[in-house]
Amino acid sequence: MDTTASIFMPPGGSTIAGEIDAVFNYILYASTIVFAIVVFSMIFFIAKYRRRGKAGLTSSMDHNIGLEIIWTVIPTILVAIAFFMGFNAYLKLFVVPKDALEVKVTAQKWFWSFEYPEGATSINELVVPSGKAVKLLMSSKDVIHSFFVPDFRIKQDVLPNRYSMIWFEAPNVGEHNLFCAEYCGTKHSEMIGKVKVLPEREYNDWLEANSTVGEGMSLEDLGAKLYVSRACVTCHNIDGKAGNGPSFRGIFGEPVKLVGGSQAMVDENYIRKSILVPQADVVAGYQNIMPTYQGLLKERDVDALVAYIKSLKK
Ligand code: CUA
Repeated sequence: MDTTASIFMPPGGSTIAGEIDAVFNYILYASTIVFAIVVFSMIFFIAKYRRRGKAGLTSSMDHNIGLEIIWTVIPTILVAIAFFMGFNAYLKLFVVPKDALEVKVTAQKWFWSFEYPEGATSINELVVPSGKAVKLLMSSKDVIHSFFVPDFRIKQDVLPNRYSMIWFEAPNVGEHNLFCAEYCGTKHSEMIGKVKVLPEREYNDWLEANSTVGEGMSLEDLGAKLYVSRACVTCHNIDGKAGNGPSFRGIFGEPVKLVGGSQAMVDENYIRKSILVPQADVVAGYQNIMPTYQGLLKERDVDALVAYIKSLKK
């Protein structure tokens, strides 16, 4: 991995940075070379075939198959290489490793808030352990924002009413700038923060020190409470047996058959949609009887129920 800074890029701070830079450098150098060839031959031909006073000396040649093939095939290959390098890096950016540590990111005008597994929270400072994959599950409370860490070469829009996600692994301890990269109003330019990468032991100490003891609750615990208080329990049990609705146990990450024959994957957005627009994707074998919870659950409540359902492993 090449992590040296250039005039174009800050020092790379994530495992993906080298690969992103390779795509960038490839496109930059390929374009520069093609630009030089085109411009220099243009200047050369302008000089060589300039009008020298006598008329009628222009060549009658109007095309050349060999040349045309060369200048079609070579750029096509160059573009294809750029596509495959880019697509490969893109896949790595968006396929999250299974054992990734998950942090909930909430964007709002004009700050970032982070919630960690143990119930710790932080504002404008994302604290992560070094050498571990970190998955960010992100949503916005108002308008569209964008999570951008130049050192990590990651940037992802953060939307209201929908989760978006991205992941990274920072191999080294250090601090990195975090920016909002989507114009979101008056103080968009002040919506900045830091990503602090700590050695794993220091990270665990930090988590412990910042976990809310007693007051406040982790998303998972809040979800467990809402599961009862919002009456999900009436129709959805957690012992794996069917009730009026499907059981919550072990459904996360699994495919599910819907009424009408199509299939869906039970992920964060599927659960959110099932809570807010339950009639949209009814599971095969069940009736369309669930009420919408639109307006009855706060954004954090939905996050909590998602976290709770996720925790109900088979
Ligand atoms: Cu948030 Cu710009």
